[in-house]
Amino acid sequence: MQPATIRPRRRRQGARGLAAATALTAAGVVTLCAALPAQAATTLKAAAEARGRYFGTALTRGDLGISAETSLAAAQFDMVTPGNEMKWDTTEPSRGGFNFGPGDQIVSFAQSHSMRVRGHTLVWHAQLPAWVSSLSLNQVQSAMENHITNEATHYKGKVYSWDVVNEPFNEDGTLRQDVFYKAMGTNYIANALRAAHAADPNAKLYINDYNIEGVNAKSNGMYSLAQSLLAQGVPLNGIGFESHFIAGQVPSSLLTNMQRFAALGLDVAVTELDDRIQLPTSTAKLQQQGTDYGTVVNACLSVPRCVGVSQWGVDDGHSWIPGTFPGYGAATMYDSGYQPKPAYNAALNALNAATPTPTPTPTPTPTPTPTP
Ligand code: G3I
Repeated sequence: MQPATIRPRRRRQGARGLAAATALTAAGVVTLCAALPAQAATTLKAAAEARGRYFGTALTRGDLGISAETSLAAAQFDMVTPGNEMKWDTTEPSRGGFNFGPGDQIVSFAQSHSMRVRGHTLVWHAQLPAWVSSLSLNQVQSAMENHITNEATHYKGKVYSWDVVNEPFNEDGTLRQDVFYKAMGTNYIANALRAAHAADPNAKLYINDYNIEGVNAKSNGMYSLAQSLLAQGVPLNGIGFESHFIAGQVPSSLLTNMQRFAALGLDVAVTELDDRIQLPTSTAKLQQQGTDYGTVVNACLSVPRCVGVSQWGVDDGHSWIPGTFPGYGAATMYDSGYQPKPAYNAALNALNAATPTPTPTPTPTPTPTPTP
């Protein structure tokens, strides 16, 4: 009887990872050199960095006063988005009166913990002080450009990226008729990007929006806009997919959609991830949330131009969801006692999963000696 041949197989990385895998063949031991990390990372940021990505969170000034939250943020995340502190109502509450103190506090926290910063946001219809909306339309462009120039200059060299324009689209893919659009039409977006680039040429400049994660009318609008801006030579570097999901409803076209934007030569990023659950939670709902987080992280890992994933907030106790969506909550990877949930393990495991290893070159197997 011929001995059964044990064929070399691709192996997935175990919990500790293996530098090399071995397999027995009929002829003896064959060593397969598999490019596996020596050890699985134990934090989101380390695991993300090992894959050439970042893992971020949003922090507000209020969060900075909560030591359990900041310790966790510093341990797990390597990118910070200020939750509110760089928005227009904070940074220029009166015309020409700038206040960068709150934003500086977030930057200072990030810098002291070796975290980078996603600047958020320069031009947005919300959290916009009333004086801007009250301007006569022929003054809006100069006010917008002055705001961008001052803020982006203040943070020059301190932010990795800017959400230059935030949430410009209606659900049907048309642009919102906000004060900027009314004053400048579609051109307000190019004007904003150019002003930001002039102030901080090294920052990655994004347009950020929600409900553009799947292929739909709104993301089609964003795609057409991005194409048009790039064709005009406007300095646009990336698209932010906010990714405020409902458990079990991550769009099936997420990966395809990310890929089409990346194919334009743009970076893409998951900028505000959360995945809300209809309360009360259950084991099944938390598992579904874990599946969703894994899906999102894997989508980002599958797109070389996807630079990272940021969650909107650290934990369920400091999430915007319950205040905005009554009956929903538990939307993040950490519960309100700062304990990791299945979504945390899913995100970490997705990041740690072995990169596809090359198929090993089979070692020639000597012809077995016939059994008499
Ligand atoms: O600053 C005032 C304070 O003076 C007042 O006492 C208090 C009373 O409610 O309100 C405070 O302002 C609140 C502000 O957050 C700062 O805490 C606003 O009411 C509240 O509406 C605002 O909510 C923020 C929201 O953006 C506004 O649209 C959330 O914290 C922030 O997490 C959220 O973030 C947005 C992103 O920027 C864009 N994408 C969606 C995301 C979630 O809505």
